Amino acid sequence: YGEYENTIDYVFKIVLIGDSAVGKSQLLARFSRNEFCLESKATIGVEFQTRTVTVDHKTIKAQIWDTAGQERYRAVTAAYYRGAVGAMLVYDITKRVSFEHTQRWLEELKSHSDTNITIMLVGNKSDLSNLRQVLTEEAKEFAEKHGLFFLETSALDSTNVESAFLSVLSEVY
Ligand code: GTP
Ligand code: MG
Repeated sequence: YGEYENTIDYVFKIVLIGDSAVGKSQLLARFSRNEFCLESKATIGVEFQTRTVTVDHKTIKAQIWDTAGQERYRAVTAAYYRGAVGAMLVYDITKRVSFEHTQRWLEELKSHSDTNITIMLVGNKSDLSNLRQVLTEEAKEFAEKHGLFFLETSALDSTNVESAFLSVLSEVY
């Protein structure tokens, strides 16, 4: 039994991208360790976490990469995207500018990754809906136009965090 438990059928690399402070690292902390920190520090360089999940009776090891949204702290771009089969393009629903920048992130992603990479547009911080600056409808339209999946999440209260990662993983699979 133990042997079966340890069998990994697939290893999938997923990258997190988006402006600084949108919550990329906390989405990853929530998904990989079920943790959340309000005093999260800006990421420097690149970090990754893994979590093994079961999809369709197959064991998938998700290797999720996280880098800095801030230009000066970012990892080497080409290496960061290399081999990625999925991407989470994150903005903050309370920061209009982070949504406007998704266009640029998308261009960078497309120029560095495989054409059939699965992309999920993620509007994070849905718990702060009283401070909302980006309408759900508008983000949904942007996602449809660019062929992206779309969800609003909250790393703080866990809303849709599992769904967002698992949708990407099952689509890739
Ligand atoms: P960089 O590493 O600089 O690119 O930033 P990041 O995108 O990794 O942001 P990070 O995860 O560090 O979160 C930035 C701030 O937003 C922290 O204070 C987090 O606690 C907070 N935060 C992240 N996710 C949420 C969320 O879903 N809701 C709320 N209310 N705050 C969040
Ligand atoms: Mg970070």
